[in-house]
Amino acid sequence: MEIQQSLVIIKPDGLIKSLTGNIISVLSETKLKIVGAKILKVPRELAEKHYGEHKGKPFFEEIIKYITGKYHTDRVLALVYHGENTINKIRKLAGSTNPEEANPVSIRGKYGRINSKTSVFENVIHASDSKETAEREIKLWFSPDQLTELIYPITTENKKIERVVWK
Ligand code: PPS
Repeated sequence: MEIQQSLVIIKPDGLIKSLTGNIISVLSETKLKIVGAKILKVPRELAEKHYGEHKGKPFFEEIIKYITGKYHTDRVLALVYHGENTINKIRKLAGSTNPEEANPVSIRGKYGRINSKTSVFENVIHASDSKETAEREIKLWFSPDQLTELIYPITTENKKIERVVWK
């Protein structure tokens, strides 16, 4: 058994179908710890980096539109799970990427569909597929101060960054 992390994204179709509570409830069966959570509008730049390995594939433009909210709502819920054997535990409950091939009682099997117009797998959630992918994805979506545990080594930098604060 190995301690691992996973980036889980409840995609725009998951939110618009009011599946958030349901999905988190199913994932809670794993007894894994949530160490990060945020709701956000996904900027195109983040989407392109996240799906960077698929650039050039026929479905690339459509998955970018899907995750940035062109078809459902423009928000996603991003979560970081942490604990023993996280990758397999979550991927088992999520089911196969293609919702038509997913176990019918898995999250994607129950709630996913293939959009007949765009051919996009509207599969409700994303879940990291390996320890290495998880690290790349989590570092892309979260900064260290947005997580409750320092799961990867950190460093400090002395840049002055302008940021928005409450008036
Ligand atoms: S592949 O086939 O190896 O390139 O696929 P994979 O690495 O599993 O992930 C591809 C991501 O793109 C999403 N997606 C699709 N892939 C293939 N074909 C179609 N039509 C398609 N539509 C969407 C797929 O869901 C994977 O994203 P995530 O976020 O992991 O579900």
